Amino acid sequence: MNIVVGVTGGIAAYKTVHLVRLLTKAGHEVTVVPTEDALRFVGTPTWEALSRHPVTTSVHDDVAKVRHVALGQNADLVIVAPATANSIAKITAGIADDLLGTTLLATEAPVLLAPAMHAEMWRNAATQANIQTLTSRGVHLVGPADGELAGGDSGPGRMVEPEDIFAAAVALLAPRDLDGLRVVVSAGGTREPIDPVRFLGNRSSGRQGVALAAEAASRGASVTVVAANVAGDVLAEARHPSVEVVGVETAAQLADAMKAASRAADIVIMAAAVADYRPASASDQKLTKEQGPLTSIELVENEDVVAALAAARTAGGGPTEQVIVAFAAETLPDAEERRERARRKRERKGVDLLAVNLADADHGFEKRDNAVEIVGEGGAIVASAAGSKREVARAILDAVRAMR
Ligand SMILES: Cc1cc2nc3c(=O)[nH]c(=O)nc-3n(C[C@H](O)[C@H](O)[C@H](O)COP(=O)(O)O)c2cc1C
Repeated sequence: MNIVVGVTGGIAAYKTVHLVRLLTKAGHEVTVVPTEDALRFVGTPTWEALSRHPVTTSVHDDVAKVRHVALGQNADLVIVAPATANSIAKITAGIADDLLGTTLLATEAPVLLAPAMHAEMWRNAATQANIQTLTSRGVHLVGPADGELAGGDSGPGRMVEPEDIFAAAVALLAPRDLDGLRVVVSAGGTREPIDPVRFLGNRSSGRQGVALAAEAASRGASVTVVAANVAGDVLAEARHPSVEVVGVETAAQLADAMKAASRAADIVIMAAAVADYRPASASDQKLTKEQGPLTSIELVENEDVVAALAAARTAGGGPTEQVIVAFAAETLPDAEERRERARRKRERKGVDLLAVNLADADHGFEKRDNAVEIVGEGGAIVASAAGSKREVARAILDAVRAMR
């Protein structure tokens, strides 16, 4: 792939040397485009030797090759690392007074920025407004991290490590194999009210559903996330121009939102943990001990949302080629017993794929990592994945792609 690495004038430019090495070692053609100020931190010979391409900051060099637009037109990805506050402001305004500026305006490839600056500069309203504008236009961000900054200060603004920028670049270069498809994902855990301050809930954080939404969007899908009680910092991973979030609280609200969103969907993924039961009635006043001891709560069964979505599909209520994926969190330690239960569940619910995940001390609810086996046609294990929730999301969407 052709990758342009823009470098702007911050101390973190020395870390970009390692990023260029990672990219070239992975077999990419890298052209480094520094700003004039960037060359005060790391010089032209370093960039030329590492990238094995000529390096210039000016639109007036090598004019015969029309480099000021050709670089951007031919790029599969443009990275700016470090991205200074000044360059972020220039990119937002579309200023094209050097080769990096023209390249960024001329490209239709994804753009990935790795901001680096002092915490005050990062928090400044001007920088934040610029970042908001850029992300709303589809520009991707990696970082900044919270940590030690130049001059002994510390706070948000530190450029993430080259390995993290490399990983974000690899994700952006992933195939857009879900282009034009509509994906609906449920995420989080429902809350069934007992009274205005108490509820029956579960430990689902929504991270797996959000990772599925982010991955689907990065592969070209337009995505609706039906988010049941998902914290804002978790939802932030799915911030993307083609992701719409619908917030819900209870199983009944989730069922309504999923039915509405799934009608026109190509892929429906039920990653939320939905309560099987709810209190038969919720008090509209807070229950107190003064009213006498409350030692039991009468429960009624909630609708099985994913089974209802699958039934609507077979009854002609949705697109015939719609693929439906359900999740089953299991605590059974024996893998074969888990698989058997998953096979029965897949049949009973009428879904295409069922991702079984082991919920233990290291995986599943509230954890960063997950491990799933995906049960498909005839009860076969069609894929398995373990690692970050994003990696698991990738494997699930690969399995969906293989079905379609
Ligand atoms: C030692 C030093 C370190 C700097 N580090 C940063 C930085 O990390 N982030 C930033 O936004 N600006 C930083 N600056 C300020 C920029 O270099 C300055 O705003 C410059 O105009 C950026 O130009 P450019 O964006 O065209 O590369 C630094 C300046 C100096 C002298």
